[in-house]
Amino acid sequence: MSEASPWESTMRIGILGSGLMGGKLGTIFARAGHEVVFSYARSEKKLKKLAQATKGKARAGTPGEAAQNADAVLLAVHWLRFDDVLKQAGDLSGKVVLTCSLPMNDDNTELVVAHTSSGAEELAKRIPKARVVAAFGTVPSEVLFGVYEARRKANRPSLVYCGDDPRGKEVAAGLIRDVGFDPVDAGPLRIARYTEPFALLVGQLAYEGEGGPEVAYRFERFLEGQSK
Ligand SMILES: NC(=O)c1ccc[n+]([C@@H]2O[C@H](COP(=O)([O-])OP(=O)(O)OC[C@H]3O[C@@H](n4cnc5c(N)ncnc54)[C@H](OP(=O)(O)O)[C@@H]3O)[C@@H](O)[C@H]2O)c1
Repeated sequence: MSEASPWESTMRIGILGSGLMGGKLGTIFARAGHEVVFSYARSEKKLKKLAQATKGKARAGTPGEAAQNADAVLLAVHWLRFDDVLKQAGDLSGKVVLTCSLPMNDDNTELVVAHTSSGAEELAKRIPKARVVAAFGTVPSEVLFGVYEARRKANRPSLVYCGDDPRGKEVAAGLIRDVGFDPVDAGPLRIARYTEPFALLVGQLAYEGEGGPEVAYRFERFLEGQSK
């Protein structure tokens, strides 16, 4: 059974890219009570299966359908697919666009944008009227269901997000909470220059470290004199 999201009744969320990240996040959003349209995979059958498996309010659609009536859109495609998926999605003016996408090269070994810009900022340049927020890109897909299952426990893992649009950031923080993370506002969108390389560090720990890829992180403050 899906459960109502505690922060807003129901949002309509379009998933652009229904692979490891988009498929899992869309599933969790639907289980949290949101209406989800899965789009952009190489087979429509896969999109339909994903939607059915959520047992929530989810369906398969085209990128245009996913974006059209959405309150928020999740962009979860390879950097090299940006142009194609944005073209298919159509006008995203005024929409909250969350991106977990990282600007990786063809074989996913290097960031092709860094230091002086970020994938999220380059995306925002392409859709200047959209409310772009970088979120979810700093954790591996493998940890998402585990975090969702543990959402009622104390000490949720952190998840950094950044953006320039207050409404976009509010929506992002709510969805981050729905997935089971503690949202950490890292500031304006240009901070994605730091969060994107950080995502590669988390990926290194997940895929090259010991113990498996189900890795998340948690920031804590330790104030002097308060540990007694
Ligand atoms: N995976 C992670 O743990 C992770 C973590 C952090 C950030 N990211 C970033 O998140 C983004 C998405 O990563 P991902 O791992 O979810 O990628 P993925 O599993 O490869 O998913 C990408 C989606 O795009 C679809 N797609 C690719 N080419 C297509 C085409 N020509 N026509 C239609 N659909 C097409 C894929 O279709 P199919 O389903 O048919 O393959 C898939 O649904 C990337 O930018 C990545 O850097 C990933």
